[in-house]
Amino acid sequence: MSSKVFSAAIVGLEASLVEVEVDISGGLALFNIVGLPGKAVAESKERVSAALKNSKAEMYPQKKAQRITVNLAPADIKKQGSLYDLPIAVGYLLASQQIYFDSGKRLFCGELSLNGKLRHVNGILAIVDFAKKHGFEEVYLPKIDAKEASLIRGLKIKSVENLKNIIEHFNNTHTIEDEPESYLFKKALAEEESEKGFLDFAHICGQEQAKRALELASAGGHNVLFSGPPGSGKTILARTFPTILPKMEIEEALEVTRIFSIAGILTPEKPLLVERPFRSPHHSASNISLIGGGSFPKPGEVTLSHRGVLFLDEFPEFSGKAIEVLRQPMEDGYVTISRAAGTVRFPANFILIAAMNPCPCGNLNDPLKNCTCTPSQIASYRRKISGPILDRIDIHVTVARMEYEKLTSKTMGEPSWQIRERVEKARKVQRKRFGKSGTLLNSDMANLQVKQFCELDNYSKNLMKNAVNQYHLSARSYFRILKVARTVADLRNGQGISQEDLAEAIQYRIKEDS
Ligand SMILES: Nc1ncnc2c1ncn2[C@@H]1O[C@H](COP(=O)(O)OP(=O)(O)OP(=O)(O)O)[C@@H](O)[C@H]1O
Ligand SMILES: [Mg+2]
Repeated sequence: MSSKVFSAAIVGLEASLVEVEVDISGGLALFNIVGLPGKAVAESKERVSAALKNSKAEMYPQKKAQRITVNLAPADIKKQGSLYDLPIAVGYLLASQQIYFDSGKRLFCGELSLNGKLRHVNGILAIVDFAKKHGFEEVYLPKIDAKEASLIRGLKIKSVENLKNIIEHFNNTHTIEDEPESYLFKKALAEEESEKGFLDFAHICGQEQAKRALELASAGGHNVLFSGPPGSGKTILARTFPTILPKMEIEEALEVTRIFSIAGILTPEKPLLVERPFRSPHHSASNISLIGGGSFPKPGEVTLSHRGVLFLDEFPEFSGKAIEVLRQPMEDGYVTISRAAGTVRFPANFILIAAMNPCPCGNLNDPLKNCTCTPSQIASYRRKISGPILDRIDIHVTVARMEYEKLTSKTMGEPSWQIRERVEKARKVQRKRFGKSGTLLNSDMANLQVKQFCELDNYSKNLMKNAVNQYHLSARSYFRILKVARTVADLRNGQGISQEDLAEAIQYRIKEDS
């Protein structure tokens, strides 16, 4: 007696098909799982046995010893996690003829508790998306994950509370209803609107240049480095940045949710993320937690901030290696992780906001305070951030100490919603410009697109030439300046890049103290 039911494995951010074959034969009592199972899968037989027993199913219906072999195919994909509990249990029930159904267009996943209840599994969105694309008609999964699953439309989601439900369902004594299609996006957006936080640019006094830099970053997706003395407002500026980020489109929301679901940090209460991610890892973060990895590669901070913001406060305090690993994602918008089991590619298109002091004591270049650092201390502090990384940051801003008058001034700054409106308009201009080319933002432009969309008049060409020669700018800097200039122009709804737009973009490149 044997059976075959379908399940899925997560590899990187994608799901792939796993066939769960169960064979029952005579011989010594044995329950064996083969097909490159991970530790959690190998333990599955204990959970499945107990769950079957506690769901009033027979473990050995023929009342004699049985040899149960479970094969998870294909054998070259490592099967991780506990999601195979349900397909193994269902496969066993089918092979031992305790239930009957056609397993062709049905996919199963879920962890079993010892009493037969189904528990949450990671990566549901990716699995259901896979099921839909591969012609499956029904997906059986834990009830707690049903809301997340129902974000994918066009197939039946069967939310299962416990193994007993499954037995009754296939024996036609109690049908599991289909989960209704979700209208979560609108609901989640409405909830986000009502959850207004305390942060707003109106509450930050002065720092106009830093705010302008963040507006450009939000509109065009550029990276920003803040440098300034302690307490000048670098951290608060960065933390307020999400208030001027444009809303996500539904496709972006699904993409981000899928990443969080696979990383296992999506909560059932909030099955769809509509706010752009804002990640601020501590400077003690390891390379792997930043970039992703592990023997079963999981997304790191750069991927968790995809379509959102990666904020690295106290930038030079991160280990030199951790900073260097950012080079690939900052350039390409994705990371490639190679392991013995294979290579996975995670998306990592984020806006980097980094903050640092100009020197270890923080007072370098302060007109009122003396810097107590030695030149070698300053040099070694700065060396932590290499040239290639600085070259990838488009906007360098010095955040100066606030004057007393400005701090106590009664005039409020511009509120975040007004800035966000301008940003959304500028993003619309970009969407129209790039059409279906796959490019979303000015910062993502390929060099060919820069040539096409960032034409300069003769005056501007001259300005650019002088800047490149005087400051020894790299080819990358040249292209990045043009991209920022394009965003400056888009924010004022200008067709072409004016000399002023370019001049503004150039001044962000050249640091005051360089
Ligand atoms: N421009 C400002 N407007 C209003 N409040 C400010 C401003 N700048 C700083 N503050 C206040 O000062 C506090 C400290 O600022 P913040 O933590 O942003 O400084 P920082 O530049 O990050 O300093 P450090 O270099 O020590 O990390 C903030 O919590 C905020 O309340
Ligand atoms: Mg700070």
